[in-house]
Amino acid sequence: MVKVQEMPKEAIDFEPKIIGFLCNWCSYAGADLAGTSRVQYPTNIRIVRVMCTGRIDPQLVLNAFRYGADGVLIAGCHEGDCHYIGGNYRAYRKYLLLREFLRKMGMHEKRLRLEWVSASEGEQFGKVVREMVDDIKELGPSPLGITATGGIVVDEGEIKI
Ligand code: FES
Repeated sequence: MVKVQEMPKEAIDFEPKIIGFLCNWCSYAGADLAGTSRVQYPTNIRIVRVMCTGRIDPQLVLNAFRYGADGVLIAGCHEGDCHYIGGNYRAYRKYLLLREFLRKMGMHEKRLRLEWVSASEGEQFGKVVREMVDDIKELGPSPLGITATGGIVVDEGEIKI
């Protein structure tokens, strides 16, 4: 006999909010190409265009989570293709630190994703968004919340950023 496990209604209806920081020169153009090529991907992503992934201050990512994002995507030029030479390498180093920091806060590492997507990779952009939405739907809503004093609730404690 097959046992069906009932999912709570909130879990079934859950639509993740994802903030995507996309580099102007590659990934933003890739997202644009996905749109003009009619590549299907979920509408859960809200895009913030930045000139280069190296420009993304970790505080921006933390603030996205702080104000309710369930996931954050950082996408930029492939290695060696950054228009500011080494911006994407700086972004990669910051990503590693952020990932560790978020893990210590009890966040699953799949909630923060770094991808290299070029201007000609509209299909790849759609694939990344589809995968990320599926992953976060499985994880459920972000465990973070904002306290009345502007801190972040982590389990029973609170931290300030
Ligand atoms: S210009 Fe795209 S990552 Fe730097």
